[in-house]
Amino acid sequence: MKLFVTGGAGFIGSQFIRDWVKRFPQDQIINFDKLTYAGNLANLASVEFNNSYSFIRGDIRDSDALLEAIPHGADAVVHFAAESHVDRSIHGAAEFVSTNALGTQVLLDASRHRKVARFMHISTDEVGGSMNSEEWLKEDSPLKPRSPYAASKTAAEHLVRAAGETFGTDFVVTRTSNNYGPFQFPEKLLPLAICNAMENKPIPVYGDGMQVRDWIHVEDNCRALIATLRDGRAGQTYHIGGGFPRPNRYVLESILALLGRPKSLLAPTKDRLGHDRRYAVNFDKIARELNWRPLISFQDGLRQTIRWYQENQDWVKAVRSCQYLNYYKEQYGESLASAKAA
Ligand code: NAD
Ligand code: DAU
Repeated sequence: MKLFVTGGAGFIGSQFIRDWVKRFPQDQIINFDKLTYAGNLANLASVEFNNSYSFIRGDIRDSDALLEAIPHGADAVVHFAAESHVDRSIHGAAEFVSTNALGTQVLLDASRHRKVARFMHISTDEVGGSMNSEEWLKEDSPLKPRSPYAASKTAAEHLVRAAGETFGTDFVVTRTSNNYGPFQFPEKLLPLAICNAMENKPIPVYGDGMQVRDWIHVEDNCRALIATLRDGRAGQTYHIGGGFPRPNRYVLESILALLGRPKSLLAPTKDRLGHDRRYAVNFDKIARELNWRPLISFQDGLRQTIRWYQENQDWVKAVRSCQYLNYYKEQYGESLASAKAA
């Protein structure tokens, strides 16, 4: 197969590429990534010199660059590229609308002109909005995004479905819950908490810390993405979940326990605006149709992830940038900025 992957230098995209190259070494993968603060080619060091892999730096909003880069008749576009951090979308929504919504449309158009066989769109459980304690998001549930990030991802999904209806584009959409694992940028809760705890720095807990997220190891997610790309039915949406919805405090206390650090490192702070209380995806459909289920338990995955951050301090130091620090200084002031930026 010939795959054109967008956003492959990010957390999930790089795992997908590493896994694909390992499983299907005869296939060709082009990674097209703008290398924003979240893109890091060090994540792909293990495949960098592989003949089946190549990298092109570019922006998914640049139609000419895409038309040049996408091979005619490629088997699939796998679309990860996005602005992905909810806090940043609250601070500045325009870049999210531009990248996530407009960028997806430009990519859809270019894929159609280059006669790509399948478009796989990577979406999120956040499009369903906040669930009450009884609710589970199903593939046909109404979409009720509540943050600028989630709204921009919802717009992107609608544009993908519109291309299917209007032009007959063969597509699949996946919606995954909260991923964790190696190479995740330390602005997201898990890597931020691990890095701070290792250095005995405070961990910001938004509001009461009882918001629920369904944690899935990134390797389990990528196994589901590979199965969906190869065998998912055209025009369908598939949910991918960890089957492990837990409050943030539970997750943070687990990290502190594994690292032998005190709970006093948990630092309650002002809540995220419009903070979604609970996400929970029902993933019966992918289990039934593609025989997929998560295999990595949260405790095992967390242990492995903590070990990775302990052993890869150079990677952590390298991804910190001035832009990143300045963003948090504006948001939270000097003292919490250094805690969050760790
Ligand atoms: P990430 O922020 O780690 O990586 C995003 C990548 O996209 C980066 O490499 C960045 O350089 C690239 N990018 C951004 N704007 C671009 C542009 N205009 N043109 C080309 N490349 C651009 O994100 P992630 O956590 O790996 O998430 C990947 C995808 O999965 C996103 O679409 C996200 O919405 C979705 N998702 C993430 C999670 C999660 O828990 N992280 C869960 C569900 C869905
Ligand atoms: O559900 C899938 C989504 O998961 C993806 O679509 C997003 O791209 C990804 O960023 C993630 O969004 P969340 O907002 O759920 O993840 P985040 O790591 O930012 O926050 C997880 C929870 O932890 C959330 O309830 C907010 C809280 N939090 C977060 C940070 C960064 C804190 O309490 N303190 C923090 O410092």
